[in-house]
Amino acid sequence: MISEVAPVMKKDAAASIEQALFERFGERFAIDPELQGLDELAKIAGHRSHRRFAPRAIAPDLLRLLCACALSAPSKSDLQQCDIVVVSDPAKRKAIVATIPDMPWIEDAPVFLVFAANGARLPMLCRMRDKPFPNDHLDQFFNTAVDAAIVLATFMGAASAVGLGCCPISAIRDHPRVVSDVLRLPNRVVPVAGLCVGWPAQPGEITPRLSLDTTLIEDCYDGHDVGGEIDAYDRRRAGLRPYRRQRHVDRWGEAKSYGWSEDKARQYAEPTRGDFGDFVRAKGFCLD
Ligand SMILES: Cc1cc2nc3c(=O)[nH]c(=O)nc-3n(C[C@H](O)[C@H](O)[C@H](O)COP(=O)(O)O)c2cc1C
Repeated sequence: MISEVAPVMKKDAAASIEQALFERFGERFAIDPELQGLDELAKIAGHRSHRRFAPRAIAPDLLRLLCACALSAPSKSDLQQCDIVVVSDPAKRKAIVATIPDMPWIEDAPVFLVFAANGARLPMLCRMRDKPFPNDHLDQFFNTAVDAAIVLATFMGAASAVGLGCCPISAIRDHPRVVSDVLRLPNRVVPVAGLCVGWPAQPGEITPRLSLDTTLIEDCYDGHDVGGEIDAYDRRRAGLRPYRRQRHVDRWGEAKSYGWSEDKARQYAEPTRGDFGDFVRAKGFCLD
């Protein structure tokens, strides 16, 4: 039975990868149906953020299992500088949500996590073992943030494997002091991103990405026409996922053609998180 079904399932997985990557990059990939791990690749290729969740709880044991899988991710020099904070106290979640009123999915998600960069343990080890710590500079902060991002991505992969959907939330860095106070983050521990987790209420959609001509580099950057590629991406994306509304129309007016580049340019024409560096320094990191 299994041997008859398996080739069909493999073909399905190959077809779903091909379809997802075509929507994503506008490029056709020939997928070898005999390739190992096609189901896993199909999940990765078909990634989408989820912001609508079914009213169904996530069992605490499952959540713990996913956190353990996520914290099995590689870690710079085995330093293990990421912590996951499970925000289970409704009052704490409310206090965080109050700083991000335009993202109701944070309140709706059955589970909300915060991935924190922990730069406290390493200097503590040096103190415990009576050693100097001459490496307190930007690279130390960078390592903790990279570790946290890898754990976040690994959690999302694990969650997707069991059918859960996620949405990362960098907006928790809009008011990092509030998040830090609510979660009582110690000195040298800063929030990198939140994560909404739940059972998806709808399938969600694939978001097209810049073509691989733009973001997949062989050997060296050769000065190709990035502007032209961005224009082409705007056009491809507008055909698949046009923006439903334009940002900051009061400042920039209603654009006739509104693509990804216009949206991102408008987004980053507004100052945001200018005080994040001050916050990170105040938490005890050196950013020099
Ligand atoms: C580090 C990080 C932070 C993000 N922060 C937010 C956020 O604050 N709010 C939100 O709704 N989505 C957030 N997202 C989700 C992105 O908007 C989403 O990944 C992007 O639009 C591409 O869509 P896709 O994930 O469905 O491919 C974040 C994603 C990442 C990786």
